[in-house]
Amino acid sequence: MNNSIPVVSIDGPSGAGKGVITQRLASLKGYHILDSGAIYRVIGLAARKDGLDFKNQSGLVELAQGLDISFRGTGDSENPLSVWLRDQDVTREVRTNEAGVDASKLASISELRLAIRSLQRSFKRSPGLVADGRDMGTVVFDEAQVKFFLTASPEARAERRYKQLKDKGIDVSLPDLFLSIQNRDLSDMEREIAPLEPARDAVIIDSTAMTIDEVFYFVLSVVEEKLG
Ligand code: DC
Repeated sequence: MNNSIPVVSIDGPSGAGKGVITQRLASLKGYHILDSGAIYRVIGLAARKDGLDFKNQSGLVELAQGLDISFRGTGDSENPLSVWLRDQDVTREVRTNEAGVDASKLASISELRLAIRSLQRSFKRSPGLVADGRDMGTVVFDEAQVKFFLTASPEARAERRYKQLKDKGIDVSLPDLFLSIQNRDLSDMEREIAPLEPARDAVIIDSTAMTIDEVFYFVLSVVEEKLG
């Protein structure tokens, strides 16, 4: 394990602001980004495209092992990475709420989580990594030098997600989104494998009453203190 490459993990429930904080931090430090949720989302999309049943665990594992996924730079600082499956740009498709629900279902399959472990770890490259997910600091990058658990009330998270999806031109209803976020939180927290929980050594941030700038500068101050 190469511990000279710094890893900052940012875990937490959906809509807590992990994506934006990850992007801003990575861009400021010049670090790589791992959007681990996008990997589960792409597996769901690939399974649907291939007509693979979500109960077919060995089929899903095989699909994940041969997954032709790539993240490509867009040059847009607000959305720096596009997501590609095979030779198709699927960035928009994987961002829908339905893709998130599919991802959460697949994420409870332990064999699948193990099958993508080395893909996830391959993002740890010099000069450093910011890893966004649910189990980045607890499981995948247990050795991360700086760990955050970013959360907010379910109401605040549903509203943020609603605005994000609307801004991307994706149609969705706020009450439906609120329910869906609550269900997804429950299944992410209650699953047996790698449940959503703060790492023992994580800095916990409740961003309900904070602006994104306040969260970012706090995160940055912790990172600078720990990594220099
Ligand atoms: O962060 P996201 O909304 O894109 O993640 C989609 C789902 O994938 C989420 O509900 C749970 C799952 N996931 C996970 O189990 N572990 C991760 N490290 C990232 C996401």
